[in-house]
Order: sequence, then C-alpha cells, then structure tokens
Amino acid sequence: MKQIGILGGGQLGMLLAQSIVRLGAEALIYDPEPEAPASRTVRTSVHASWQDRESLDKFLSKCDKATYEFENIPYESLAKLSHSTPIIPSLDVLRITQNRAAEKEFLRSNELPYVPYFVADNVSSLEKQIDQLSFPVIIKSTTGGYDGKGQVFLQNKEDFQKTISRAEKALPNFPVIAEQAIDLYMEVSCITAHSAKGEKIVFPVFQNIHSNHILDTTVVPADIPANLTNTVQNLARQATDKLGVIGILCTEFFISHKKTGGAKSAFSFDVFDLYINEFAPRPHNSGHITISSCSLNQFDALARILLDVPLSQPFLAKAGYFCMANLLGDIWIEQGTTNGDKINLINLADCPYPFEIILYGKEQALPGRKMGHLISHAESAQEAKERALKIRDKLKNTPCLK
Ligand SMILES: Nc1ncnc2c1ncn2[C@@H]1O[C@H](COP(=O)(O)OP(=O)(O)O)[C@@H](O)[C@H]1O
Ligand SMILES: [Mg+2]
Repeated sequence: MKQIGILGGGQLGMLLAQSIVRLGAEALIYDPEPEAPASRTVRTSVHASWQDRESLDKFLSKCDKATYEFENIPYESLAKLSHSTPIIPSLDVLRITQNRAAEKEFLRSNELPYVPYFVADNVSSLEKQIDQLSFPVIIKSTTGGYDGKGQVFLQNKEDFQKTISRAEKALPNFPVIAEQAIDLYMEVSCITAHSAKGEKIVFPVFQNIHSNHILDTTVVPADIPANLTNTVQNLARQATDKLGVIGILCTEFFISHKKTGGAKSAFSFDVFDLYINEFAPRPHNSGHITISSCSLNQFDALARILLDVPLSQPFLAKAGYFCMANLLGDIWIEQGTTNGDKINLINLADCPYPFEIILYGKEQALPGRKMGHLISHAESAQEAKERALKIRDKLKNTPCLK
C-alpha cells in the first residue's frame, strides 16, 4: 500500500488523510503535538519537533511521497535531509510562501499584483522608509504568522511613533514588512491544483469575510461579475505556473474600488484594483467549502495528485450558493466550557434545511481556535449566509453538555 506522509496534523492534515485513505493508500502524520487532530484518523503518527532532523528524515524515508499541511515548517529543517522522498509542493515553493518578504518579491519580480510594502530590518529602517506608504499601515512578521498573528495595525503617524518607541514589545521580531492597508471592497480566494503529469484545474472563486483577521465565512460562488471571476482565476493560474507548484495552491486576493492615484502594483480591472495578498501551498480554510459545494474537493484533489490519480475539473455541485462558517473555540466558551467534547449540538435539530458540520476533535477550546466548520446551501448568497449564521447562533445560545 502506498504511504503518503503529511507534515502537520491539524484539521487540514486530518481531512487530507481521510481523502488519501479513501483512495486506498495509507496516510502517516508528523506533528510535534501528540493530540494533533489528524493523529486520531491514521495508524501511524510521529510526534517530534520540526527541528529534529533525524526524526524528520526517518519519517520521510518511510513515505512514497510527502506533503505539508501548513507552510510554517522551517525550510532549513527540511532542506538538508538525506531521504529521497519527493515532497510536493517543492521546498522552493515552501521557502517562498513561508516568508512574506520572499513572497512579495516573487510577486513583484513576476509582474503579479501586490500590496505596496517595504521590508525593514530594524527600527531605523522602518522610520526611513515609512513615508513611502500612506496610513493606515500594517506591520507584519515575515515568518510564522497565521490568522492575523504577528500583525500590528497602525492608523496614523502618531500610532507609528508610539509603536516604534516601544518596538521590542509592540512589534513582531525583525525583519518585518510594512504594508499599505487596503480599503477592501472584498476578499476572495482561488484554489488551483497542478499535477506532475501537467493536468491543471481551478476551483470556483470563493468570497471570504474575516473577523479579527480570522476567516469567518466563505461563500461560493463569489458575488462578482463573471469577467472579474475569470481574471481572478487567470491570475491564480499564472501564479501557480510561475511558482512551479505541483500540488495545490490557494491564492488570497484583495479587491478594492479603483481610486485616482491608486497603487501602481495593483492589477487594474474595470472599476476595481486587484492585489494578491498571499499564497498557501496546501489545502486552505476557505477551501473547506469545496467539501459540499464542488464535484471534487480540495483534499481529494491533492490526494489524487499525491497518488497519481487523474484530476477532473471541479464544478459547482448544484445551482445556488454555499456558505461555510468557521466554528471557533469562542462558541464552546459561550456554551460555558473549554472542553472540546462538551459542545452541545442539540439545537441543530431545529434547522429545517440541510447543512454539513465537521468538528476537528480538538481537546481544548480557546478563543479564536478553529474547532470545526459548517456549510449551508440556498438559492441566494444572502440566504446561504443567513442560514449558516443562524445555525451558528443556535449553537452559541445552548448550555454545554454536563
Ligand atoms: N494590507 C491589508 N489591507 C487590508 N486588510 C488586510 C491587509 N493585510 C491583512 N489584512 C486583513 O487581515 C487578514 C489576515 O492577514 P494575512 O496577511 O492574510 O495574514 P494571515 O497569514 O494571518 O492570514 C486578511 O485576510 C485581511 O482581512
Ligand atoms: Mg491570509
């Protein structure tokens, strides 16, 4: 039986492992955390640190192919191992996408649209360059950030001065990037999948709403004109080609209304400016929606690529709109528990329409921690969203299990 290694055992690893198993192969998990959600679903999981090269080497040597389910695995840990197992997407892709400075430089040098930014190695470099951007500005860590972690929003110059005067406490570790805050009309994402045999597929465009920098809801299809959808898909395809991704890639976009004097680095389309925000060379939270909404989901697409099973172009499974809503630990806390098992789902019985719910089996609920998600469907985007939010509200207003 083919053995596929997954570096990282979070919910993305868990859902990918299930897809691999459903294609008749075995999934193996490597994650420092013994309670990693994916470990529950596989026969073999190894728990060792990302710095432990010997364990990484041994793990990868057992696998026919490997992939990663998050991009913050230190590139240096993987670059000098002696195993000969193919890792997809390649380590070059990982190196670029795990570092915001490298990612922006990739966009710039390949003439893909990007948010105006500069890189700073220290406070004085920040001060020297800050006038290149207009406020508000966001300072971001170059590595290790996710769900808005390692980001500081600066409304104006005064904020900036205050923050740099206590840089050690108030800023992420240097080097950082300073980035123009975009007046967002909409955020969308687009997943592409390319196989080693040259097959290329693109998923429908997803419309994403973030709350506190964490993805809150995703709707598919995005409520944008067809020609804007095509433009987004084409930019995502170009980026996937230029990065040389074999595997899957999620490209996150910002869309703003075009303004006079708008950024030169934007892709100008009709009344809109488009920017690529960032890439994830792996299944993506917004792509959970493909589980119910598409003829091929993001996990199955990657599993097929890993196992040399032909891809098929995904299309929407039925007319109308789907909405995915994340279930964060805050819901558990509102129910009165931090115990992952104690979530009370009784009120789901009141929902008169079909929906899908997936829980990740995490033991501890924390504020902002992704614990599960649900997906609804309706004829209109607004109705699909209202349904998903109604179900989520019902969960919030329920006392936890005793
Ligand atoms: N330059 C920006 N302008 C406006 N909003 C931003 C900007 N950068 C980040 N955000 C908001 O914060 C969210 C998370 O930021 P992102 O750069 O995607 O980091 P993460 O790696 O945490 O996902 C974005 O999806 C967006 O909602
Ligand atoms: Mg992001």
